[in-house]
Amino acid sequence: MVSAEAGIERVLWTEAEVAARVGEVAAELAADLRALLEPAVVVGVATGAFLFLADLVRRVDAPLAVDFVRVESYGGGTESSGKPRITADLKVDVAGKHVVVVEDIVDTGNTLSCLIAHLEKKGASSISVCTFLDKPARRKVNIQLVGDGKFYSGFECPDYFVVGYGLDYAELYRNLPYVGVLKPEKYKNDSSN
Ligand code: IMP
Ligand code: MG
Repeated sequence: MVSAEAGIERVLWTEAEVAARVGEVAAELAADLRALLEPAVVVGVATGAFLFLADLVRRVDAPLAVDFVRVESYGGGTESSGKPRITADLKVDVAGKHVVVVEDIVDTGNTLSCLIAHLEKKGASSISVCTFLDKPARRKVNIQLVGDGKFYSGFECPDYFVVGYGLDYAELYRNLPYVGVLKPEKYKNDSSN
């Protein structure tokens, strides 16, 4: 078998760099959540946010609930279709609650805008966003937070297609403990691009 590392052209953030930065973001988030009068609801966007969310909430010493949604807009390629759909909804009721959306990466902003509108309709009293990576160069839609919501970000990501630490290409590479740039030959023959 070939190792997952074989698809990586170069590493952007090592496992140690990721852990250090996640600790900093968690400290910032924890301070804000401890100031609230009631537990927040942390909403992970499956599947990409699973490692970030797991590492983050273990470092946040504040009462909180965890739930997941699934929002899909990608085919198998590296470009978003731009029309995200909620394909698995929350179990927790977020009406009147402070919600923190945890994402792997904000790229065009389409996924997040769709999800924020969805959570706002459910009556969340504030909506914050905590994204592991932010790729502002490709933003098409401004992210409108709700109420006293804040934007937390781990790293600003250059305009490459990156994988690892939850981020995939065609569902692979999520298990890499670091973030790397995918070798272009891994997707250049993909007709869905
Ligand atoms: P957006 O709707 O364009 O902001 O895309 C958000 C979603 O696209 C993220 O949740 C990721 O699943 C995926 N995505 C965007 N850029 C990358 C990337 O560089 N690597 C892997 N997935 C990405
Ligand atoms: Mg994805």
